Amino acid sequence: MKKIALKRILSNLNLLSLIEQVNFYRQKWQNRKSNRLFLENNPTVKLPPDFYLYETFNLNYDKFYTNGKPTAKWLVNHIKGFKEFKNISILDWGCGTGRILRHLPSILDSSNSFYGTDYNKKYVKWCSENLEGIQFKNNNLNPPLNFKNDEMDVVYGISIFTHLSEELHHSWLKELSRVLKNTGILFLTTHGDAHKFKLLEKEQEIYDAGNLVIHDFKKEGNRLYASYQSPKFFRALCEQNNFEVLNHIPGDIRNNKPQQDVWVLKLIKN
Ligand SMILES: C[S@@+](CC[C@H](N)C(=O)[O-])C[C@H]1O[C@@H](n2cnc3c(N)ncnc32)[C@H](O)[C@@H]1O
Repeated sequence: MKKIALKRILSNLNLLSLIEQVNFYRQKWQNRKSNRLFLENNPTVKLPPDFYLYETFNLNYDKFYTNGKPTAKWLVNHIKGFKEFKNISILDWGCGTGRILRHLPSILDSSNSFYGTDYNKKYVKWCSENLEGIQFKNNNLNPPLNFKNDEMDVVYGISIFTHLSEELHHSWLKELSRVLKNTGILFLTTHGDAHKFKLLEKEQEIYDAGNLVIHDFKKEGNRLYASYQSPKFFRALCEQNNFEVLNHIPGDIRNNKPQQDVWVLKLIKN
């Protein structure tokens, strides 16, 4: 039986929240030794509450903090050929607990300005109180963002569209184009072909025809609401919103885990 069919049964039995709690404690237990070692070796590193880590990423402190820096460098490397990181404004949309954003001020020139926004107020509060050199704001599930027109040179959203409905795909891409300057860069990740195996056969047909597939076990925005973007669907969406696709890198399977597709887009305002 596919995982999705099992999830549907558990959801119908109202058991998903319970399973989430069990998974949280299982991850906590599995990572206990590695997390203890991390705390011993890094007593000054500020870490978000465990449940925030579980909800947004993975409950392994080393993967969250130590691997966060190479991920931030990976992001910069994808963009730097198209935008010089000097005296520009950079926004992490859906910043979560700042896994990537917290490292940018130490990687990039101090002439740049760093912003983070998320619809989860708890994460924004934690980031504002614990991470320096970055301005954090809250937004709602629906647009708008709390930024002016043409304010940003670079916006990135890592694993955000992967939790949104089709309606919000349209409204958020339009909103991101509002806050970006002309020729601004948008970096996004999606659930592409590497994630197709999670879909039922009839959903794979819908995906292959260039449509979005949704698994909605919770309200959108939540990690239990997953959307799958066929490249055909996503490319068309970008083009409808005046984004030129500079690079699309399909995700591969690494250590048995499907990776997300990467999209590097340039906004062309008329
Ligand atoms: C899988 S987590 C990724 C967090 C972060 N980007 C990272 O890579 O560590 C998804 C994040 O998207 C946020 N999110 C979901 N819908 C959002 C929306 N409409 N606007 C802003 N943030 C949203 C969630 O609160 C969560 O922090």
